[in-house]
Amino acid sequence: MATNKYDVVVIGAGPGGYVAAIRAAQLGFNTAVVEREFLGGVCLNVGCIPSKAMISAGHFLHRIQHDADPMGIEVGAPKVNMSKLKNWKQSVCDKMSGGVGQLLKGNKVTILNGEARFKTVNELVVRGKDGEQTVQADHFVIATGSRPIEIPGFTPDENDVVTSTGALDFEEVPKHLVTIGGGYIGIEISSYLRKLGAEVTVLEAGKGLLVGAADPDCVKVVERKLKKSGVTVHTEAFAQSWKKQGKDIVVTAKVAGKEQTFKCDKVLLTVGRKPNSDEMNLSGVGIKIDERGFIKTNAQRKTNIPNIYAIGDICGQPMLAHKASHEGVLVAEVIAGQNRVYDARTVPAVIFTDPEIASAGWTEAECKANGYHDLKVGKFPFGANGRAVALRETDGFVKMIADAKTHRVLGVHIVGPEASNLISEAALAIEMGACVEDIALTIHPHPTLGETMMEAAEATLGHAIHTINKPISRPQANA
Ligand code: FAD
Ligand code: NAI
Repeated sequence: MATNKYDVVVIGAGPGGYVAAIRAAQLGFNTAVVEREFLGGVCLNVGCIPSKAMISAGHFLHRIQHDADPMGIEVGAPKVNMSKLKNWKQSVCDKMSGGVGQLLKGNKVTILNGEARFKTVNELVVRGKDGEQTVQADHFVIATGSRPIEIPGFTPDENDVVTSTGALDFEEVPKHLVTIGGGYIGIEISSYLRKLGAEVTVLEAGKGLLVGAADPDCVKVVERKLKKSGVTVHTEAFAQSWKKQGKDIVVTAKVAGKEQTFKCDKVLLTVGRKPNSDEMNLSGVGIKIDERGFIKTNAQRKTNIPNIYAIGDICGQPMLAHKASHEGVLVAEVIAGQNRVYDARTVPAVIFTDPEIASAGWTEAECKANGYHDLKVGKFPFGANGRAVALRETDGFVKMIADAKTHRVLGVHIVGPEASNLISEAALAIEMGACVEDIALTIHPHPTLGETMMEAAEATLGHAIHTINKPISRPQANA
């Protein structure tokens, strides 16, 4: 068995792992990355990128159907060619994944194809197509990500019962989809499949959709539009079993305590994700994991074993690609002896629904839980923004929350067009400890959606120009 020795070996080439490997190589380490399936991980192959490609296609179709005619553009009835759409989506993923391969090679990172398993705290066995090899390193970074959770009675076969991976690769638009779980993945996929023509029923165990994932006022806007688009939502709904009935699938669920059945042709299971920590002999070499299998780390993303680090989904929530990448850079710099810790004030989050929801910082409830009881909250609607009106995308608002005493921005919650692109300004403001005046007094170009940020900041001060501020305060005339 061949043995290779490196300074740093990263396990998993997702947005956590490949970024860690590139940064380690930039810092002069002889680095290798071990990957068992695909460069770019879940994110570029079966997660963020393919889902956003499909969401773009659904949005484009919706725009043609609903916005072309009022804008005076006459098009015939559009048709969805699913196999062409699928090929296009795959070409986007391949381009991104191929790009990661080039970046790794360009930075002289060795790519080891195969599955890694710890033998000792300084040694891995990598099992690939061509056999096994032993790999030694001074430092290891575990970035092996996560996979879908299953529930009793619903073992995904990626045909009748699919996870997000199967749903992103449907040969045809389902006639009727039953989605189990109304969280991030369930709602993103249900939204675009509805746009592509599927009937959709969502069964969510909790009392509402996207609970805990976003500001409740933002969720209301999305929920309203989702229902208006024809998606049926059942809350307090627990799927129990399914069976084939001819060509149909019948799902049985308890909805608010009563048994109901739902006929469909595909079932999408999206009830959360669990860590890929069970196949690497972690406990065999003494790496501590919590009761759900997530690896425990400190603020430098060190595990309890001094030369082993862990980043990304394998460490738990928030399970987001940009957070994994941030940690990737961090661990490489820690290994290089830099005095770095994970001290981000906010991990911005986006839910790519229609309209998009994006947030940075705390909700009002979280501000209060963190001891900020006296708040200034300003809201500015997209309906009062010229660019949004010209785009025919006026649903939603920007909500800004600030500490009433210091005016420091504590949270920004956006539901509306391009919320995903607008939120970075809020994240920067929170990272820099900015006050609402910093945003309100920054000249924002016109006509842009970004002006809503400036006006939401003004609204917290009670003087946004393009909306009526409540209560209106007038200067007292001198007696
Ligand atoms: P992963 O991307 O999961 O990568 C881990 C890699 O490790 C994989 O390539 C795997 O093959 C490899 N691996 C595992 N075990 C081993 C082993 N023993 N040996 C070798 N290799 C191994 N996040 C966002 O921020 N924005 C989004 O829009 C978004 N959309 C999503 C949509 C969907 C449908 C899904 C499922 C997820 C989405 N996410 C999104 C979440 C995002 O994909 C993850 O947070 C991110 O991929 C985590 O990165 P990671 O590097 O920790 O792990
Ligand atoms: P999730 O945690 O977002 O949502 C799961 C939902 O399923 C919850 O609402 C939960 O109440 C519900 N549920 C649990 N058990 C159930 C049951 N038996 N029956 C019915 N409902 C049940 O998990 P999801 O959607 O699988 O996504 C996993 C993670 O992936 C997210 O937490 C997020 O970190 C990441 N992601 C991020 C995206 C983004 O950034 N835009 C997009 C997609 C995923």
